This record gives sequence, C-alpha cells and structure tokens, in this order.
Amino acid sequence: MKIFSGIQPSGDLTIGNYIGAIQQWVEMHKDPSIDEQLYCIVDMHAITVTQDPKELRQKSREIAAIYIACGIDPEKATLFIQSHVPAHAELAWILNCTARIGWMNRMTQFKDKAGKNKENVSLGLYAYPSLMAADILLYDTTHVPVGDDQKQHVELARDIAQKFNHDYASDIFTIPAPVLRKEGARIMSLRDGTKKMSKSDPVDATRINLLDDADSITQKIKKAKTDSEPMPAKLEDLKDRPEVKNLVQIYASCADISMQDVLDKYAGANFGTFKPALAEVVVAKIAPIGEKVKELLADPAYLDDILERGAKKAESIAKVKLAEVYDAVGFIPRKG
Ligand code: TYM
Repeated sequence: MKIFSGIQPSGDLTIGNYIGAIQQWVEMHKDPSIDEQLYCIVDMHAITVTQDPKELRQKSREIAAIYIACGIDPEKATLFIQSHVPAHAELAWILNCTARIGWMNRMTQFKDKAGKNKENVSLGLYAYPSLMAADILLYDTTHVPVGDDQKQHVELARDIAQKFNHDYASDIFTIPAPVLRKEGARIMSLRDGTKKMSKSDPVDATRINLLDDADSITQKIKKAKTDSEPMPAKLEDLKDRPEVKNLVQIYASCADISMQDVLDKYAGANFGTFKPALAEVVVAKIAPIGEKVKELLADPAYLDDILERGAKKAESIAKVKLAEVYDAVGFIPRKG
C-alpha cells in the first residue's frame, strides 16, 4: 500500500483537517502493510485563490510543524512542499490534456468556491483537481486518506488515470482509492451543523483551530449551537440534530472512542454537562499540538532540513514516473 495526502497552507488548520485527514495518517503509521507514506504541503494548490506571499511562506512551514506535532514521524513518512518537486506541475499539464471539461464541470467544490463569481475566479481554481490527480498519480498511490469533501477529487484522479492508461495503452498509473473515516469524515461548523467546518470561513467562532489555546477552545464549545433536547441514547436519534451529532463526533474522535460510546456515557445529560466534558477532551487532544508547533517553529533549520530530505526523496520517485509519461505521450527525451 502506498499513501499520499496533502493539505493547503491557507488559513488556520482546523480540528476538521485533523480528524478528517491527519489523524488517519498518524494511525496509518501503525499499519505494517503500508510501504510508503507521503504527506505534502500543497502550496501550488493554495495560490488558486489570492494569497499573501509572506503569509504563504510562513503557513507552509507551519503546516510542516503541525504534521510533526500531530504525530507524523518524518522518519516513517516523506514530508515535502509541492512546489519543491516540479514534476507535480509538469504532470498536471499532461493530465489537463486527459481530463475532460465535462468532468471538471461536475466538481462540487469548484461550484461552491466559485459561487456566483464563476467568470472571475482563476483558471487554476478550475483546473485544480488535475493538479491534485498529478500529486496522487506520480507516486503509484493506492490509498488517499482524506475528508469527505475531497472524495470527489480522488474519484476524478481515478477517472483520469484510467483514461490515460487506456488512451496510451499503458498501465503507467496505479488506480488510487479514497480512504475516509467511518465517523468524522465531515466535521461541521460549530454554528451551523449543515455547513462544513472550514479554514476559509471568515467567522472564527465556527471552527476550532489546531493552534487555538485551551481558553478559546472552551469558549467556542460553550457557544457552539445546540438545541433544547437532552443528549439521546441512540445514534438514530442524532439524525435530525446535526449540531449535536457533530459535537458527539468531535468528542468521539478526540477521545478515541465510538460515537455510540459517547452516547452511552452522556444519554439524558444536558449541554451544561456535556459541553464542559467535550471541551476537556478537545483541549487534552489539541492544546499540546499548539505547544509542540511553537517549539518546532522556533527551529526553522530543523524543519527546512526535513522538508529538503522529503523533497529529494519525493523527486527521486516522481522523476521516474514523469519520464514514463513523457515517453508514452511521445515527447523526445533530451540528449544530455
Ligand atoms: P484541504 O487543505 O482543504 O483539507 C485538507 C484535508 O482536510 C480534510 N478536511 C476535513 N475533514 C473532515 N471535516 C472537515 N470539516 C474537513 N475540512 C477539511 C480534507 O478533506 C483534506 O483531506 N485539495 C486538497 C489538498 C490536496 C490533496 C492532494 C489531498 C492536494 N493534493 C492529494 C489528497 C491528495 C485540499 O484542498 O484539502
């Protein structure tokens, strides 16, 4: 099994990114059937919307620190910055020529992000799923651990890989599969249980940031939207209570127990009891990450060294795949 995943260095990472993605990656460290794990900081994806260059640089290092602080071991996984490995951009171009406009038009994230502003967003935002396909396909990735919102993009990567293999009568690309958590693949806003928690939401109170301190985590949970019923006993009873379901999900992920376990513990309780208990488990999980990130960021040379080693390793794999692709499409290799 070969694993690839990534996060954009834009905005502040949330507990949604942690639960949906990073927590899965950390768990994968324990799986002996995994041969290769690559975790990327996808700065080229980030510039599909306007970024402040200074902030982008700072966020890219911050994400590396977050990966490590969350428990990703740079000795077990390759951590690198997307723009350090030019093969990502180069393969993305080829895949732009394989992907069909009709496929791109079905991408719900583009529709959501572009909204009414469709004519005025960047071409990069529209083409972004084929860059993501390049990320995945360069490394013979078999499994892509992501949150629910990225599932469609991984499925598109499958379609692109299949079409390319078919068009060029080759088996150059491995067909990847998305891996989603059974519980927690879609963490919702603290203020609206029907909306995904997002690092790009302008309202900070809608999310728990991975770098929030204990006080703000507790305050945000205290003010999180709920309803007036007590906590239910059965999972089915959460069906029409999206905000409560979300809080139960967050509790379960942070305490490493199932949602049913949470209900067994709190059935019949009111939110005056549940919310402080939730804040406690979230703080216990999240606050140490912030502390560790601070320590890591104080030593940028250490991070840069890990990222350099990661880029070298990633590049050595990506170069070979790109050469096979160039050959298959009919590009003449350079003499030198
Ligand atoms: P990004 O940066 O938006 O999010 C990073 C990861 O976090 C997951 N996630 C969530 N999971 C559960 N609940 C949420 N509320 C939540 N919000 C975000 C995302 O699903 C994702 O797994 N295009 C990707 C980055 C990317 C990538 C890749 C991922 C680029 N190339 C190749 C996998 C493989 C993105 O923008 O994720």
